[in-house]
Amino acid sequence: MAVSEGNGAQAPHPSGAPPVLTITGLRTQFGTSVIHDNLDFSVQGGEIMGVVGGSGTGKSVLVRTIIGLIKPAAGRIAVFGRDLTTLSQAETKAMRARWGVLFQDGALFSSLTVAQNIEVPMMEHSNLPPELRRELIDVKVSMVGLPPDAAHKYPAELSGGMRKRAGLARALALDADILFLDEPTAGLDPIGAANFDILIGDLRRALGLTVVMVTHDLDSLYAICDRVSVLVNKRVKVGTISELMGEPDPWIQDYFGGPRGRAAAGSAGQETTKNTGTGGAGTAPMRPETGD
Ligand SMILES: Nc1ncnc2c1ncn2[C@@H]1O[C@H](COP(=O)(O)OP(=O)(O)OP(=O)(O)O)[C@@H](O)[C@H]1O
Ligand SMILES: [Mg+2]
Repeated sequence: MAVSEGNGAQAPHPSGAPPVLTITGLRTQFGTSVIHDNLDFSVQGGEIMGVVGGSGTGKSVLVRTIIGLIKPAAGRIAVFGRDLTTLSQAETKAMRARWGVLFQDGALFSSLTVAQNIEVPMMEHSNLPPELRRELIDVKVSMVGLPPDAAHKYPAELSGGMRKRAGLARALALDADILFLDEPTAGLDPIGAANFDILIGDLRRALGLTVVMVTHDLDSLYAICDRVSVLVNKRVKVGTISELMGEPDPWIQDYFGGPRGRAAAGSAGQETTKNTGTGGAGTAPMRPETGD
């Protein structure tokens, strides 16, 4: 399938899975500064969608707009087929329980332990009794590969990688269907980042998650993303990496075809020849397995 833009929200995905997120005609602006203009974007159920683009192109703003922290100037955002602007307060709250977010700046509460951080969304969105919450917290802590005693530590007592995992555990506190991850591997060493990628891939398969992952990490894109969205000119171009390599846009060419892109492709065992339309990452996208 070719790179889509403009009408990307309508373009069918090869998996045939229905979109869980559809954005059409999105415009966001701060004062006179327009960040997204007539942007279309859709994410299929069960896929890991990478989001890349130069610094300041609006990746974090896109995530914050989808989850309702920024009000769009125009456009429609539908999640699970529901237009977010038409939801009642109760429906909005229920919808918010269906997604988990790992913000770019981590944003764990520094005065709360990891367990208390994970408990915050549980207390806000569920009526679970304290004993059950405690049991669930233990499950989430182990799910993200943290040792049990990490639950009782404060963020400052954890390594950067452990903090990322704790943030992920909090994002998963409510059994989310969609995960939004903003630069989840930034600041991690390459092995820590690779392990985090493996964790995201495993969780996607085990829990049937749909993941939208903003990243600068080319290795992550090759390792786990089915498709990639590139923010250019206030819109997104969407495709597999090999499809995007055929795009003439200079930023895309530099990003995937530059030294770092070629190194990442090399370690992922992919070709980076321009405009080939064959080979490359994403031609055989990983699909979620059912069960377990
Ligand atoms: N609350 C805000 N008020 C005004 N301008 C904002 C606000 N949030 C973001 N911006 C501006 O919107 C633009 C996009 O910001 P955003 O944080 O989405 O960039 P980004 O693509 O995530 O960059 P990076 O890769 O550095 O994280 C920037 O110019 C930023 O200054
Ligand atoms: Mg950002």
